[in-house]
Parts: sequence; C-alpha cells; structure tokens
Amino acid sequence: MSRAKRKLDHINHALSTGQSRENGFDDITFVHKSLPDSSVEDIDMSARIGELSISSPIYINAMTGGGGKKTQQINEALSAAAASFGMAIAVGSQMAAIRDKAEQPSYKVVRKVNPKGIIFANLGSEATADQAKQAIDMIEADAIQIHLNVIQELVMPEGDRDFTGALTRIEQIVRHAGVPVIVKETGFGMDRDTVIRLKNAGVSAIDIGGYGGTNFSKIENARRNRALHAFNGWGIPSAVSIAEGSNAASGEVSILGSGGIQDSLDAAKAIALGASASGMAGILLSVLTEHGEEGLHEELRLLHEEFKWIMCALGTKTLQDLQNAPIVISGASHHWLAERGFE
Ligand code: FNR
Repeated sequence: MSRAKRKLDHINHALSTGQSRENGFDDITFVHKSLPDSSVEDIDMSARIGELSISSPIYINAMTGGGGKKTQQINEALSAAAASFGMAIAVGSQMAAIRDKAEQPSYKVVRKVNPKGIIFANLGSEATADQAKQAIDMIEADAIQIHLNVIQELVMPEGDRDFTGALTRIEQIVRHAGVPVIVKETGFGMDRDTVIRLKNAGVSAIDIGGYGGTNFSKIENARRNRALHAFNGWGIPSAVSIAEGSNAASGEVSILGSGGIQDSLDAAKAIALGASASGMAGILLSVLTEHGEEGLHEELRLLHEEFKWIMCALGTKTLQDLQNAPIVISGASHHWLAERGFE
C-alpha cells in the first residue's frame, strides 16, 4: 500500500471509527458559583506551553501530512483556522517528508498560511536528533512534538516490535533541538511514572494524549478487518491521565490535556485537572470534513466563546485560576485515582 493511501486510510477510518465517550470527563463536575464576581470582558484565556505563550488555551493536535493533495488541503484549512483563532497547531509525523522531499509541500503549507503562528513539528520516538532538526527547519517550527505510539505499532502487522532506547533518543533531541520538546501519546494516556521519566529527561511539556477519543487500535483493526481486540479498550482515560500527570509534574513541566476532547467543557475540565492547555484532533477533522472550512471556523468560534463563558461562570479570570477551580470527581475516575493513591 502506498504511503499516500495509508494516510487517507487513517483519515477515513478515524472519521468512521469516530470518538467514544470514554475519556472520563463525564466524571468531572465543576462546582457552580452563584456569585462569581466576574465579567466576560475581563477573562484572559492566554496559555503557556512550556516556554511558549499562546492566546488560545486550545491547540490543534497532530494529524496528517504527506499523502498528496487531499491531506495538503486539510492541513491548509486547519492551519488557516489556527491562525484566525491564535491557536497553536501541530503537523502530522514528518518522517515521510524527511525520507522523501516530494512529501514536503503538504507540511510546508502549514507555515505558509500561518506565517506568525505557533507551529509544532512532529516525529515518532524512533527519530534521531538530526532528523528532529530537519523536521523543525522544514516548517520553521516553534517546538517539536515527539509522539509515542507503542499500541498502534503493535496492532499493525508490519509495525515496530522493538521499543528500546526511546527515552535516550528523547534526551538527545532535548539537548540538540534548539526549540522546546513536547512528548505526546496518541490516545492511550500516560501514567505518573512515564511523566516523571520524561520530566527528568528535560522535556518542556508532556501531552498525555489519553484514551477515550480517537482510537488507533480500532482504526488499525478496522483497516484490515482484523478481529484483534486486546487493545481496543486499552489505555488510561484522559481525565485521570491528566490528574496523574499534573500530580507527577508538580509544576516543573507543563502537562497538556488531550485525547477525546470534544467541546469547550471537556477542554475546561482538562485544565481544571491541571493541564496548561487542551488539544483536539479527531473531532476537528470530522467537523472540517462534514461542514467545510466555514463550519470549522464557526465551531472554533463557539468553542472559544463558550470557554470564556465557562471561565466567567466559575469566577476564574486566568487559566491559572481555572487550574484551581473546584471540581468533584465521581465514578470510575474517582475509583481510579483512589486506587492509584491520589487521595
Ligand atoms: C493522528 N494523530 C497523530 N499524532 C501524532 O503525533 N502524529 C501523527 O502523525 C498523527 N496522525 C494522526 C492522524 C489522524 C487522522 C488522527 C485522527 C490522529 C493522533 C492525534 O494527534 C491525537 O493524539 C489522537 O487523535 C487523540 O486525540 P483526539 O483525536 O481524540 O482529539
């Protein structure tokens, strides 16, 4: 199968497999305030991701690159939307474009339509420090995401089977990249121990990329009509992964909350659980595919407006205030955190 076909396959199956509602955010409830003493006008939604400042607390997470015209159009539309709303945006894995220059235009377009925005490069943890630098230079990236995708590789018959040395390579990339390094999961979440090891490796931010949204085990199985089920329900739900991660980070590294963020309330809950910003991927791709660029703009406008209203209702003026907003954790998330010793 050609690389272009594989990229389109991922998009199509991500759209048809859809988003589950197993991210854990339904277990999180904000404590309502009838006297918030706040005004929508005074709300400051600006966020920090490691050393970077951004005006939106929501970023567009890595999706796709390579794969010809269709993915180029998707990247162009997503990046234009990111520019309009002051959102950071990550490109999809650039390894294909490092190996074959003909693949570069669909990544470069992200910088072309968004010359001043914050853009993240993206490679897997098999990348060397030299490849990381090439990926950064290709799109004049402000930071680089290194993604971890053990489960997706295991589920693919032709996928990697050797995951040794990833942390050592990440340390090398941190030393030589020249821009902040963000390590991200791809929908299976991170536990406390992983976050501590990445923090000690010196990364600037950790995107826990939790379970409950796009599911790469289901996508890879659906692509092949395979009945391999071991990993279809595998992973740490985003809500508890953010709670574990931010506890382990103890304020020394930014935790980013992503994986199944479907709306402004999920995004706000991610921040109340300790994230510095919230990332969305699959849901924005389906809005773009179903409703076009205008639909995406309208969705993002509403998302930001509602986010502001949520902050106002809670009497929180800044994202730091929102990180400390009172929440009640119930159900399976409460159980998870109690079992894991977070009480
Ligand atoms: C992804 N994701 C992804 N992540 C990454 O680091 N590099 C990549 O190349 C890709 N490619 C990709 C393609 C498509 C079509 C989708 C939907 C997703 C994973 C993505 O960044 C994110 O971690 C997960 O999708 C979970 O977030 P959502 O989709 O539940 O918001």
